[in-house]
Amino acid sequence: MGSLGTDEPLDFYSSPYLAEHYDLICAQEGSFFKDIEIFSAELMQIRDRKRAKFQDPDALVVIDVGTGTGRALHGLAQKALKNGIDLSKVTFLGFDLSQDMVNRAAQTRDLTGVGHVEWVCASAVDLDSVVCARGFHGKVDLIMFADGGILHLTTPEEGHKFLRGLEMSLRPGIGRACISVTNRESVDDLHYYDTEASGKGAVEYESQHFPNLIYRNTLTGITEEGTVGISTFQFEVWKVQEDGRRELVESRVTRLAGRWWTQSEMKDLIGEVPGIYLAEIASPDNRQIFYTVEVQQ
Ligand SMILES: C[S@@+](CC[C@H](N)C(=O)[O-])C[C@H]1O[C@@H](n2cnc3c(N)ncnc32)[C@H](O)[C@@H]1O
Repeated sequence: MGSLGTDEPLDFYSSPYLAEHYDLICAQEGSFFKDIEIFSAELMQIRDRKRAKFQDPDALVVIDVGTGTGRALHGLAQKALKNGIDLSKVTFLGFDLSQDMVNRAAQTRDLTGVGHVEWVCASAVDLDSVVCARGFHGKVDLIMFADGGILHLTTPEEGHKFLRGLEMSLRPGIGRACISVTNRESVDDLHYYDTEASGKGAVEYESQHFPNLIYRNTLTGITEEGTVGISTFQFEVWKVQEDGRRELVESRVTRLAGRWWTQSEMKDLIGEVPGIYLAEIASPDNRQIFYTVEVQQ
């Protein structure tokens, strides 16, 4: 699970501690997360289109790319169940590059009521193989790429490969992909970027999963390589002893790399992939822009 004093930087999402830490940060970013509304509205429209084409609106395949700990799928299911939608014929597939994130999704997300749920470790650039392996080619109704996850695809080549996978996955005339891109301007407001120098201090989070552990994450630097920003942090895990004293369990440099995809880059990227087109752009909050993509019939 990593070790005290190792200098090798760890990917920001790649340990059981970091996976829980991510969820604790997300709980603080609540006001930013309006994405479930967007994904739910898409799902309702997809159901309407299926009905109009005499297809079963309850039989849906939903894929969450870069699912992390499954926040978006869980939110989508909760909202659908609250609205009385039967999910017993629905398939949810969440996949992520980090095995630790999908492990936590599998451990913590209660998706009772959803017909079939799968958590898989894979890269967004391999969407085509993930889909083909399950026979979902041309049968996927909704693809989500939430919370700016596409910023982790840092080259146009990676972006293209993902979009080509999307083209072969979506159900023609019905399916939609909803891709969130983080606004560069709002990123400093996020709890990821808590820093002592800012006066906000590095926020401490108590683990809910590991008894008596505390996480502390301090931003130590931001560098730019072209359009790719690399943030580094010192991530510490502390154990609180019975007498209240603290013992450092782990201290690691973590690294988060992301490309600041501009609106024109996103439009070009989507426009360059045959068979898909940009159906909509929406900006429901100051945090992110949603690009909705469909496949040509
Ligand atoms: C900002 S988090 C979003 C997590 C989740 N979608 C949410 O909304 O809470 C980005 C996620 O993308 C994952 N990720 C990074 N590179 C990826 C890649 N090439 N393919 C798939 N997932 C990736 C990270 O491991 C992380 O879980």
